Amino acid sequence: MSNFFALIPAAGSGARMGNALPKQYLSLNNRPMIYHAINTLCQNQFIAGVFVVLAPSDSEWFKYDWSEFSEKLIVLSCGGLTRADSVLNSLTAAKQKKLVDTDDWILVHDAARPCLTSIQLDKLINELSADDVGGLLAVPVADTLKRSNIENRVTHTESRENLWQAQTPQMFRYDLLTQALRSATSINVTDDASAVEALGFHPKLVPGDAYNFKVTYPQDLALAELILQKRNNS
Ligand code: CTP
Ligand code: MG
Repeated sequence: MSNFFALIPAAGSGARMGNALPKQYLSLNNRPMIYHAINTLCQNQFIAGVFVVLAPSDSEWFKYDWSEFSEKLIVLSCGGLTRADSVLNSLTAAKQKKLVDTDDWILVHDAARPCLTSIQLDKLINELSADDVGGLLAVPVADTLKRSNIENRVTHTESRENLWQAQTPQMFRYDLLTQALRSATSINVTDDASAVEALGFHPKLVPGDAYNFKVTYPQDLALAELILQKRNNS
């Protein structure tokens, strides 16, 4: 029987956040941001282990006490130059350490998406665990989309029909994901699904919610804090 593992790439520098501290460690509800994703993933009954991928130079991680997650949490200090490199390096390391099998499910989840709920996570696992390919949480695009020229003048309006915003977790079997990322390293992949798509597969889009947005710019922090506080109070 295949197991489920979560994998959290957390080796980025958060350049768009503009803070010297990588954004995964910025304080959110009195915790480093990454705490929230780890907490949700570790609490899930299906998930056997949670890998966190750090930059080899990361010293910030070790300033916190993570012992409450010791049953499931495994730290891999093998992050790479890109997100795809970080995910692939950690998949290879986990296999070398005999922590995963080739037919296990891997749920890759950004450290910078602290507002993932257990409901969305369960929905993703339930909808995909019998799927041949795998897939991802995503939300249909709500806004009208404009294509511009280099002067920021609208050249035309894009149809938003059948357009989705990709989120994480993105859930694929170990062997397909590894194969996809290996062959994709030369092209520009900003998520796991696009690497799988490049092999000719069609990942399934599982409708999620907008709360699971990625904290990217400074103003996103305040929004994430409001969402988490509201949940704690209800
Ligand atoms: N990530 C990673 N290794 C990298 C780059 C990114 O593990 N070399 C991780 C980030 O830590 C984050 C996730 O991938 O959890 C999503 O990436 P993104 O939101 O782009 O984070 P950063 O790359 O850190 O931010 P920026 O692009 O603004 O620098
Ligand atoms: Mg990035």
